[in-house]
Amino acid sequence: MEKLEQIYEGKAKKVYRTNNPDYYWVEYKDDATAFNGLKKGTIVGKGSLNNRISAYFFRMLADKGIDSHFVEEKSDTEMVVKALKIILVEVVVRNIAAGSLAKRLGLEEGTTLPKAVVEYYYKNDELGDPLFNDDHIQAIKLATPEQMARIRETALKVNEVMLAHLAERDIELVDFKLEFGLHKGEVLLGDEISPDTCRFWDKHTREKLDKDRFRRDLGNVEEAYQEVYRRLTK
Ligand code: C5P
Repeated sequence: MEKLEQIYEGKAKKVYRTNNPDYYWVEYKDDATAFNGLKKGTIVGKGSLNNRISAYFFRMLADKGIDSHFVEEKSDTEMVVKALKIILVEVVVRNIAAGSLAKRLGLEEGTTLPKAVVEYYYKNDELGDPLFNDDHIQAIKLATPEQMARIRETALKVNEVMLAHLAERDIELVDFKLEFGLHKGEVLLGDEISPDTCRFWDKHTREKLDKDRFRRDLGNVEEAYQEVYRRLTK
């Protein structure tokens, strides 16, 4: 397969066309942004770690019967994926209160939620990615009710599988964000699953092993991402 011209550049990844219209070539960058692009920086080695961590999770999920756009790794920082028409809904699943949920509901960060909370955010930079619900999604025709049912069910299954897998590696899965898209009419899990898009805490010390280290200037960002990769692959 050949990597052809770039068709999109996001905050953390570049997407290229390939000589096969069914596949894209994704390159993970070291660039980091937070707070809707207001905070910018570079985390040396992040592109490579996020590519490898995402590939690891997509393979692990495939073994558990959850398909995604992932096809194969092409280099340390690159993977080939199935071409998706992205659905503009960011799906967040939470097990422990943190970040915007802790703020919105006035919960102390670290409070265990009695059951997983699923949230939808409109993927729209201009509007600042507002929280919205299923009815809003239907109203602006981002996805059908059947597609949303499939998305919710898949997101909860991803949560179950990842919770168990990470617990064995002494990592608490606090929350994470997923994106989905359509490939030949079928809803597929897309984007990435990495410390940029998940909150991972050490089970014993609750040390943050994710992008909150960058958001909150806690230092040792790359080391934390490396530690996640080390625990996954040891
Ligand atoms: O900021 P908030 O608490 O809503 O984030 C919930 C989860 O979604 C976190 O794991 C965060 O890393 C992820 N997220 C993301 N991309 C966004 C917003 C949140 O990956 N644009």
